Amino acid sequence: MTNIHAIILAAGKGTRMNSSKPKVLQTLADNTLLGHVLKQAKLISQKIHVVYGFGGAQVQQTINDNHINWVEQKQQLGTGHAVQQATPHIEDNSISLILYGDVPLIQRATLEQLISACKTSGIALLSVILENPTGYGRIIRDNNIIQAIVEQKDASAEQLKVCEVNTGIMAVRTTLLKKYLNSLDTNNAQGELYLTDIIASAVNDGKTISSVITTDEFEVAGVNDKTQLAELERIYQQQKAAKYMQLGLSLKDPSRFDCRGELSFGQDCEIDFNTLIEGVVTLGNNTTIAPNCCIKNSKIGDNVTILANSVIEDAVIGNGASIGPFARIRPQANIGENAKIGNFVEVKKSTIGKGSKVSHLSYVGDSTVGKGVNIGAGVITCNYDGVNKHQTIIGDGAFIGSDSQLVAPISIGKNATIGAGSTITSSAPEGQLTLSRSKQRLFPSWKRPVKQ
Ligand code: UD1
Ligand code: CA
Repeated sequence: MTNIHAIILAAGKGTRMNSSKPKVLQTLADNTLLGHVLKQAKLISQKIHVVYGFGGAQVQQTINDNHINWVEQKQQLGTGHAVQQATPHIEDNSISLILYGDVPLIQRATLEQLISACKTSGIALLSVILENPTGYGRIIRDNNIIQAIVEQKDASAEQLKVCEVNTGIMAVRTTLLKKYLNSLDTNNAQGELYLTDIIASAVNDGKTISSVITTDEFEVAGVNDKTQLAELERIYQQQKAAKYMQLGLSLKDPSRFDCRGELSFGQDCEIDFNTLIEGVVTLGNNTTIAPNCCIKNSKIGDNVTILANSVIEDAVIGNGASIGPFARIRPQANIGENAKIGNFVEVKKSTIGKGSKVSHLSYVGDSTVGKGVNIGAGVITCNYDGVNKHQTIIGDGAFIGSDSQLVAPISIGKNATIGAGSTITSSAPEGQLTLSRSKQRLFPSWKRPVKQ
């Protein structure tokens, strides 16, 4: 087997990003630009070399992957020079696959085609045909046979008319790459060592260059500024939405769906507009998500209804539950089957039992709520004493009257009833009414103050 060594060029500063971060650390969906390239490269190569320059420490720290061979390019003297920094680390009997750290949407299948073309010819280029080729290196052919790549700044008027351009991505047998890299010079308009010059050298040497022409211009699009970054983000999201719809997900408006992670779902799930999915989210069958919800790293069951403007993170939602509108389900919340969490309710690190209801304006934190419990409007678990967090335990069938405070640590017995407006500071027994309200009084002689 021939080993594949990926060489990812990532030394550019990316001045046009106007950022303190190196360009390849800008993010697209849930990953850095370089992270996207690495993900594809890992699928097809045995070894990865990243050529870094500007902000190297920051890049290495962020990517934090000790399988990568980090190669420094101290000065950016051109793409040929960048590759020259990596080749001493690469065994001769291999294929070098050159990728750009700022071309994030490159796909495995295309790279596989390129590698197989390289196995036959020794050198394979990935090109694309652009309506406006300005700025790119042109693929110069004679009778359809590749002769050279000529950079925009070095091209003749005739060559500038060529619309087939170099994406920069290529696969080359490492022995040939090393040989032709040796013969590079800086006799060109930019005074750089052009990687692209290896093509003419190989042709002079009697080699035939093969090519793969991609029809997906976004797959090979580089990112130089925030506008291009946003464009590719949209493309990425459209592709993701299209993939999910093909698998049966209903999206009311795929242009207003964002997934920064991975979504999996059963049958007949429907997501309305402006949903953000982050991390790993799973939906069961027949679950619906209303507009403007953010859902992160959560497992949502079957027949769940998530109403508008709800935020769910690191939580588990049981079958048949109803969440929102305007609910906030925080980490380690476990909402039981057929439970209801209504508007302006916040639940954190709590288990809500089967069929229980917390319908309005409540905070439930560090609590274990049994089955069939009704928590009235405005109930608060006072879980924090200013230093430590404490637990609230509510037994099955309990009824907590509206606007009560349960001062933790505390436990409310099964089928207990708490009268509305109570501040409960010690345990309430099973099956009985507990309330801490003061008696209602009348003040017959009281008058409203009047303006003096
Ligand atoms: C290069 C190609 C051009 C192609 C275009 C596609 C050359 C000479 N030209 O041009 O044919 O159409 O890409 O976008 O190869 N880099 C380094 N070190 C360097 C120089 C560049 O790591 O010294 C990296 C950059 O960070 C970037 C990539 O290489 O990821 C391409 O560099 P860039 O300067 O954008 O190349 P172009 O001149 O646009
Ligand atoms: Ca470029």
